[in-house]
Amino acid sequence: MPSGSGSGGGGGRVPLISGNWKMHLNHFEAITLVQKLGYLLRKEDVEEVEVSVHPPFTDLRSVQTVLEADKIPVALGAQNCHWEDKGAFTGEVAPPMLAKLNVSYVIVGHSERRELFGEADEVVNRKVLSVLGAGMTPILCVGETSAEREAGSTEAKVVGQVRAGLAGVSPAQVGAMVVAYEPIWAIGTGRVASASDAQEVCALVRSTVAELAGAEAAASLRAQYGGSVKPDSAPGLMAMPDIDGALVGGASLDAESFAGIVQYRLAG
Ligand code: 13P
Repeated sequence: MPSGSGSGGGGGRVPLISGNWKMHLNHFEAITLVQKLGYLLRKEDVEEVEVSVHPPFTDLRSVQTVLEADKIPVALGAQNCHWEDKGAFTGEVAPPMLAKLNVSYVIVGHSERRELFGEADEVVNRKVLSVLGAGMTPILCVGETSAEREAGSTEAKVVGQVRAGLAGVSPAQVGAMVVAYEPIWAIGTGRVASASDAQEVCALVRSTVAELAGAEAAASLRAQYGGSVKPDSAPGLMAMPDIDGALVGGASLDAESFAGIVQYRLAG
């Protein structure tokens, strides 16, 4: 097994807990949610854990304003972007536009984008490169369907997605990135992966990164788990040496439950 301290954020990595709001909450509702989070998150909660929220595009400016005005220690994230900096791409949003809103993290290649909007590995890779080019950090999502897991092809799927997603990315950039392992069968189903299954695949992500970009990059890259994470499952997942955070969907729409996940060290 790759190295890790066993306390989540192994190897000195600062855990990153991210809330992917998906297509939920208008900008008024978004403001209310981040203000609640601002009240619930205490200083010590975010001393050793980084937190990001990923609202829909229409909410970004409002959420940015509240986070900055109220000094809420939560990073701003986006859920997607185009790979070009500008151009005739109706309906798309360019990475420099996100960077201008002080967006730090961009989710790239979420399974919903891959499955529902036909994003292939090559497109995902272009997005990774352009997010990095705009000075932001991609959260590259990978994960298998339940049919793939049953057929024993989890490893091939995840390794293939990691390799394709990181093509042409420098080792230093890889080391600063985040890869989220999100088994598709666990997303929005209430069926969270067991901590040991999630650990196994996050370790596989790290060893694949070591082959691609070297041991140093592999040791600093953060691997998140995503898929039905709730306050009660977070501590077990975060105790795993190769799991450095969570990508949270449904539970991130409720301030108490998202704060409860961020405060995973308090439980047990
Ligand atoms: P749920 O937490 O709702 O299962 O969603 C996970 C996810 O897709 C986060 O990106």
